[in-house]
Amino acid sequence: MYNSKITGLGKYVPENVVTNDDLKEWMETSDEWIQERTGIKERRWIDPKTSDDTTSIMGAKAAEIAIERAGLTKDDIDFIVFATLSPDMYFPGGGVRVQEILEMDTIGAIDVRNQCSGFVYGLSVADQFIKTGMYKHVLVIGSENHSGGLERSTRGRNVTVIFGDGAGAAVLSREEDNSKGILSTHLHSEGKYAKELALEGPSTGRWVDAIMEENDPDDVSYYPYMNGQFVFKHAVVRFSEAIVEGLQANNLQKEDIDMLIPHQANLRIAQFIQKKFRLSDDQVYNNIMRYGNTTAASIPIALTEAWEEGKIKEGDNVVLAAFGSGFTWGSAIIKW
Ligand code: ACO
Repeated sequence: MYNSKITGLGKYVPENVVTNDDLKEWMETSDEWIQERTGIKERRWIDPKTSDDTTSIMGAKAAEIAIERAGLTKDDIDFIVFATLSPDMYFPGGGVRVQEILEMDTIGAIDVRNQCSGFVYGLSVADQFIKTGMYKHVLVIGSENHSGGLERSTRGRNVTVIFGDGAGAAVLSREEDNSKGILSTHLHSEGKYAKELALEGPSTGRWVDAIMEENDPDDVSYYPYMNGQFVFKHAVVRFSEAIVEGLQANNLQKEDIDMLIPHQANLRIAQFIQKKFRLSDDQVYNNIMRYGNTTAASIPIALTEAWEEGKIKEGDNVVLAAFGSGFTWGSAIIKW
């Protein structure tokens, strides 16, 4: 059995910055409300007038950087794992689009549908392929184009102000030293809460035809719905559990954490976790202020920035933790 380690990281965010004040064009909200409740100051939203970015294109851009930083070329990659809740098309998924955009050989590509936990799930999938010896280099991408599908009105504001667009990518490569790289991943789900944070239609449960036939002006099932406070309460519990589970599996204490990268759902959640685990500001990386919640892209974007800023060093214990729609949650413990 091998370990896998992250050998390259990359990120891409659209150029168009949307500040909290900019949102007032569409809805009743305020910079004060958004910052106080979420910590977000601005986010990136693709501007279709000036950019042809899509979920797959952004993912491919982040992937190119990650591959180059790994010292590899696209031809060295054996497999693609693509995590998103906002694919370019209903089907096929984004992984095959990346294979096409990067002009890769006919390698396999799999899509992971685990929303905010998507990158942690994707990392775990890639890790298993490398552990067994099946693949040597696997590309893991998290990418989201939320802006195209958000309800830009006061009715949708509790969801719309939170989400941003962007992509992050990691190359996972075979590591022969079992004390290094991804030490363990821990994945969970609780489907009974699926509807607390979901986009229900159009889907096989609610086809476009039915939505159009009913023509109900109050039907917003094609916009994401979130029971914010309910999700918040579960998030703080599950984040903590996932971190503790990961530490225990590796005989680590909370004092051993060098860097925690929480999924960027809400700065208040990250601050709660930081306080609970008695971590200093240097031990937790947050960038939700600049990007909002980019769902599957949030951890790889944050991981890339933390690494670029020199905040992750060889030998560090890096903890990734995520919670989101499904509900799904999980963690990854990495010896850098
Ligand atoms: N601007 C101004 N006022 C607003 C806004 C806004 N953008 N949004 C809601 N409000 C108002 C509401 O109408 C409500 O007003 P009322 O009291 O007059 O009825 C009031 O503010 C409070 O609304 P809540 O929804 O109760 O606000 P809350 O404090 O819960 O904050 C938030 C909302 C930020 C969404 C929070 O609940 C949260 O972060 N939840 C967890 C998010 C999360 O972790 N998601 C998981 C990952 S996402 C994924 O997996 C895709």
